[in-house]
Amino acid sequence: MQISRVMQILNVAEVAAVAAAEWNGRGDKKAADQAATEAMRNAFNEIDFSGRIVIGEGERDEAPMLFIGEELGKGGEEIDIAVDPLEGTNLCAYNRPNALTTIAIAPKGALLFAPDTYMNKIAAGPACVGKVHIDNTPSENVSAVAQALGKPVGEVNVCILLRDRHQQIIDEVRATGARIRLIDDGDVFGCIATAVPGTGIDLYLGAGGAPEGVLAAAGLKAIGGVFMGRFQFRSDEERARAEKTAEVDLDGVLTMDMLVRTDDAAFIATGVTEGEMLGGVSHDGGSTTTTSIIMSSWDKTVRFVKTIRRGDEGTISF
Ligand code: FBP
Repeated sequence: MQISRVMQILNVAEVAAVAAAEWNGRGDKKAADQAATEAMRNAFNEIDFSGRIVIGEGERDEAPMLFIGEELGKGGEEIDIAVDPLEGTNLCAYNRPNALTTIAIAPKGALLFAPDTYMNKIAAGPACVGKVHIDNTPSENVSAVAQALGKPVGEVNVCILLRDRHQQIIDEVRATGARIRLIDDGDVFGCIATAVPGTGIDLYLGAGGAPEGVLAAAGLKAIGGVFMGRFQFRSDEERARAEKTAEVDLDGVLTMDMLVRTDDAAFIATGVTEGEMLGGVSHDGGSTTTTSIIMSSWDKTVRFVKTIRRGDEGTISF
């Protein structure tokens, strides 16, 4: 993936974040999501590529924009796109940390189509490759992370979505003596943060959206971290729907290589609200500032980009 292409996609994430941030703290998650989706779609359509949405806002009949299969752009290189235009709609609506706009891109056919169900997930940074596993117990994984990072179990920080379904995991992690960072929403952030120094998060455990799992896998694969998942169906109807489009064993472990079938992917996210990993959108004297993260497989890097838009005077990126 050429860096110029990645910069075009970065611009898409940024303009979507600016649009969503207009709704920070206004209590209207639908309006925030719609603003991000519309801005994202318009910006994608300015690009000289043939983009195809693999993971988006839903099926064609339930999403007016960025629906699965939607084709975007002015024509050119064929690229698969996974998006969550506003990851953490409630985080934005109630101005809580870590609402993000998120995009993953890869060559055509490389991103797994994930059904709209839950996925049980484990994520950790590069030091934990081969040391943690989705089938291990939370306490086995916590002690493996402690060993891999060379710190006591009591200093390991585990990120978990605050949901009733996670009570057993929470209890088991507490029993090890590790710390827990409970998040209200936004498990793409929780997973990605494990591989980003400075966030204080070492391990992510728990079930969240399957589409969000593919986005997180793209970021973690890009920089050599760990992500594993397993679909968790909430009903027979959900499972039957997934069977129609299944590209993988629906009960098996989903590795990063199954979710992202290339070494040429990139994950890009821009902060909407303020957070530990990315600053939120801010306005000052006619300028708008965004901060973004780019994780790219081909050079295994994490880049932070701060962009200042100065109205008619153009855009400056640091
Ligand atoms: P939205 O951005 O669609 O509101 O999703 C937020 C989120 O917290 C995801 O990060 C997570 O994967 C999923 O919802 C968890 O789903 P649920 O709220 O049903 O537990």
